[in-house]
Amino acid sequence: MGKVGVALAAGCAVAACVVAAVMVGRTVRRRSGWRRVLRVLEELEEGCATPVGRLRQVVDAMAVEMHAGLASEGGSKLKMLLTFIHNLPTGNEKGIYYALDLGGTNFRVLRVKLGGERSSITELDVDRKPIPQHLMTSTTEELFDFIATSLKDFVEKEENVPEPSQGERRELGFTFSFPFKQISSSSGTLIKWTKGFSIEDMVGRDVSQCLQEAMSRKGLDMRVTALINDTVGTLALGHYHDEDTVAAVIIGTGTNACYLERADAIIKCQGLLTTSGSMVVNMEWGNFWSSHLPRTSYDVDLDADSPNPNDQGFEKMISGMYLGDIVRRVILRMSLESDVFGLISSKLHVPFILRTPMIAAMHEDDSPNLEEVGRILQDTLEISEVPLNVRKLVVKVCDVVTCRAARLAAAGIVGILKKIGRDGSGGITNAKSKGGGSMKMKRTVVAVEGGLYTNYTMFREYLNEAMVQILGDDVASHVIIKATEDGSGIGASLLAASHSASSSSTSSGI
Ligand code: BGC
Repeated sequence: MGKVGVALAAGCAVAACVVAAVMVGRTVRRRSGWRRVLRVLEELEEGCATPVGRLRQVVDAMAVEMHAGLASEGGSKLKMLLTFIHNLPTGNEKGIYYALDLGGTNFRVLRVKLGGERSSITELDVDRKPIPQHLMTSTTEELFDFIATSLKDFVEKEENVPEPSQGERRELGFTFSFPFKQISSSSGTLIKWTKGFSIEDMVGRDVSQCLQEAMSRKGLDMRVTALINDTVGTLALGHYHDEDTVAAVIIGTGTNACYLERADAIIKCQGLLTTSGSMVVNMEWGNFWSSHLPRTSYDVDLDADSPNPNDQGFEKMISGMYLGDIVRRVILRMSLESDVFGLISSKLHVPFILRTPMIAAMHEDDSPNLEEVGRILQDTLEISEVPLNVRKLVVKVCDVVTCRAARLAAAGIVGILKKIGRDGSGGITNAKSKGGGSMKMKRTVVAVEGGLYTNYTMFREYLNEAMVQILGDDVASHVIIKATEDGSGIGASLLAASHSASSSSTSSGI
């Protein structure tokens, strides 16, 4: 071999060594990157852990806070708002009633014909519209003019609907799914906005009056006979179908619960006169807080970056508006710590870009190569060619975040059952008498609505499973979690009917 040959051979050897070193370096880096990512996952799992012992602490805290919120105004982060709904629909409601449902990204107008028997809705007409984004942060007048115009269009398009007789008006149940303070069942003043709405001049104003004024501006003659929260509509519809329904929960864009409370337990409003001895209480549980809640650095950051920091803490761990963003934050952290997702995508910095339905779709992707996961990472986050093990990692992150949310919601529900003595732990509903014999537990139905529960199977399964773990098989067999459909719309029309000035319908003492 000549000099040139030797030099060439030596050059090739050096090059081979460099390539090998680079490859080894990459493998080592990838390994240590993978290790760092697994550490992030481990920390997330630890931070989100909800063993049954911790859930029971949340149950107790929820029941304690409910007491405190009923004892005095401002006594708890749970507002425990009075609704002045003493009676729930029985099935005797009859006639045509309207409902308006405003509470998330869409709003709906409904016309419902009630047949005068339980579960006898004979006609249902619904019009659904997205709320233009700019109206969510504009002025009261703009928002309500838009709503009143849509309502008027709906009424003007009606065919074969009899005009109200002389001296009568169309009656409307208005579902307004934000916290408001009531002094009657048909009016209330807005306490604060949630779920991304922010119209400052509306806070403190009477919601029904704002709608009533907008309707007069648009020349629409309709009367708001009931102003309700969406949980209350869900409870009304649940009770209409099944009279053992005692509480209702919404787990959708936001989350909240209401239930029937004994009037004498509402200490902050002594001497409350009710026809039934009970009242529906809107808990506004989205604002529940307890040191027992498993909180991670992602929750802390999400809260700090939100328009309502230190507010709606429970909601920010549970509801559809936020779960996707928690997952985004975890993936961003993993990307910052390693290169398993390739170069850091700028999309990972965009708040709320990963929506909860996408989390559900990734979580429930059962294709062998997790194609849906790959597609969502590519289309939404612009992260391409993600290997299978990294896709699996993303599914695991969705699982951890969703599992925590569902289990906390279950603990919240059991907290309500505990407060009203339906959790089998004592009082009239004690499952076991002191002698060890079995006492009869009352059948207890909780109506649940919202996309997370109805459309996200894994969420629903985790919630149902946690209910059984907390309550035990015996007690859990008496508690029925029932998905209702469109309580926030139909429930409002039912309450419009049972609170109607003109109708002959009657309502049950609860
Ligand atoms: C609101 C509640 C509402 C819940 C579900 C929360 O953000 O504060 O009033 O019931 O969302 O829509």
